[in-house]
Amino acid sequence: MFLIFSDTTSIAEYVSTMLINKIKSKPGIVLGAATGGTMEPIYACFVEQARQQQLDMSGLTSFNLDEYVGLNADHPKSYAAYMHQHLFRHVGFDESRHYLPNGQAQNLEEHCLEYSAKIRQVGGIDLQLLGVGGNGHIGFNEPGTAFDSRCHVVQLSERTRLDNSRFFAKNAIVPASAITMGMQDIMDAREILLIATGETKAAILAEYYQNDITEAIPFTLLKRHPRTTIILDEAAASLLPDSAKRSATAGRLIAD
Ligand code: GLP
Repeated sequence: MFLIFSDTTSIAEYVSTMLINKIKSKPGIVLGAATGGTMEPIYACFVEQARQQQLDMSGLTSFNLDEYVGLNADHPKSYAAYMHQHLFRHVGFDESRHYLPNGQAQNLEEHCLEYSAKIRQVGGIDLQLLGVGGNGHIGFNEPGTAFDSRCHVVQLSERTRLDNSRFFAKNAIVPASAITMGMQDIMDAREILLIATGETKAAILAEYYQNDITEAIPFTLLKRHPRTTIILDEAAASLLPDSAKRSATAGRLIAD
């Protein structure tokens, strides 16, 4: 299902409210967390609402999707630092319950096996948040990734490294590899919310809409997931056919 909102502020309020309601109804919820520019206004809104409502998050467990190989948790561009900056340090998170892949693990392959196993051990992910890369990647599952993949090490495509270079200082080198949850780890989540905003995502959203499920566009696999919602702003939805936009708008009215 597509839901289209007029702007990122409305998306942030919608997703944040949904998250808070889910945490209230299931304090031991397991959340799949995403990083990236798309999530920043959502986390900011969530922090504000959670503070206002004095939300108890002590029972919450989270698993991040991905991390760069070679960056330690203190590196300002690591996803561990991102989570600390945008979420963990602001609200009452028990950081021992929040898992990220370790980009500096001694044995990366073994670490990946343990990461997928840990997700299963806690009972699986209730709600997985996702952004999407300009080439359709989710987590860091680049085009061509096997749909049955579990947590693994991936060589990042030039496209992804270029897209993400905006987060790194000028002339800094974007790491060439990363650890990501696999496609199957993501699909095992009981519910998935993918959020895409801005015109740079419009073309890949149109590709999603026009194509059947294909490994060439990883997030098309979400079409097979029974509880996936794709949330867009008008810019990201701008290349969808009018018929898709009309039904999404109807969905928004119901959701609101
Ligand atoms: C990045 C991350 C993803 C993220 C996506 C979109 O490369 N690995 O987890 O969801 O690409 O990022 P952004 O929201 O910055 O566009």
